[in-house]
Amino acid sequence: MSNTLLQVEGLSKSFMIPAGVFGKKKLLKAVHNVSFMVEEGKTFSLVGESGCGKSTTGRLISRLIEPNEGEIWLDGEEISSRKEAQLKSMRKKVQMIFQDPYASLNPRMKVRDIIAEPLAIHTNLSKAERYKQVSEILDVVGLSEYHANRYAHEFSGGQRQRIGIARALIMKPKLIIADEPVSALDVSIQAQILNLLKDLQEQFKLTYLFISHDLSVVEHISDYIGVMYLGTIVESGPKEEIFSNPKHPYTKALLSSIPIPDPRLRRERIILHGDLPSPVNPPSGCRFHTRCPVAMDICKVTEPAVYHDETTGQLAACHLLES
Ligand SMILES: Nc1ncnc2c1ncn2[C@@H]1O[C@H](COP(=O)(O)OP(=O)(O)O)[C@@H](O)[C@H]1O
Ligand code: SF4
Ligand SMILES: [Mg+2]
Repeated sequence: MSNTLLQVEGLSKSFMIPAGVFGKKKLLKAVHNVSFMVEEGKTFSLVGESGCGKSTTGRLISRLIEPNEGEIWLDGEEISSRKEAQLKSMRKKVQMIFQDPYASLNPRMKVRDIIAEPLAIHTNLSKAERYKQVSEILDVVGLSEYHANRYAHEFSGGQRQRIGIARALIMKPKLIIADEPVSALDVSIQAQILNLLKDLQEQFKLTYLFISHDLSVVEHISDYIGVMYLGTIVESGPKEEIFSNPKHPYTKALLSSIPIPDPRLRRERIILHGDLPSPVNPPSGCRFHTRCPVAMDICKVTEPAVYHDETTGQLAACHLLES
């Protein structure tokens, strides 16, 4: 039987933003009523256009920020409203990997010290013991002692991401939140890093929350996928079902934009018209109605309920699915 490592329930987060010179401050609803669960050792991917709330969801779960509403259950403990002093054990269990490791790697530190830094902060290990662990982890991510003595700027993008992964792994986390970890890399390097993440998952029984704006990137690494639009999850379910049998019109549109090499299998591209609405003023009813190619009158006024397909395991919020 599988264990649930992460469960989020009704997670919401708004930010106050300034509104010009004379205007009042406004509330930007970045994440709205998001729920999903991730089983231990599996990968759940959040996908959706830029600005839909993926990174905010990741930052809420890693408790870099506090939610306005909702619960976050990590490894059996509820962590949504804990204060910093009570988050110690959770901080070791969750590590993050970012899109641009260069920005998060200190240019004045040698790679050895960058990777050892979390150990220096969170453990009482001696310097010699910390460096020993660094040597082991370098090997695991495909780097060597030679790299340990250098500075981050001496590395290529792919190698820098390996350093970022090593720094996350050294704490022996249970959950890794990888926020667009390959988006800044060339396609061939993307595949290498994705394969490395997949191997590491098997080797260390890691659980991933993988974040990407690109549905094609998450295809091979995911077990489950959650599709986000304007702060909400519009559809989630097993990867195979999302790719072969999408239920929500937004998922269908995203999928139709992925090129398929075989012309016989080519899908008709669904072009979404209109701009992404502002999360300061999200559309009434179904948030997708201003761009949905099959919107109906009811969509403008009534928020759709979540429909659960028990055969496929998909959840989708759309009036078309109501029977
Ligand atoms: N600290 C913040 N203050 C104000 N607005 C923010 C903040 N963080 C994110 N946002 C806004 O929240 C929305 C979701 O952002 P984000 O979670 O970064 O989206 P994504 O990662 O999907 O691109 C965006 O409109 C973004 O501008
Ligand atoms: S509820 Fe209506 S607008 Fe929303 S996705 Fe379904 S059909 Fe489109
Ligand atoms: Mg982001």
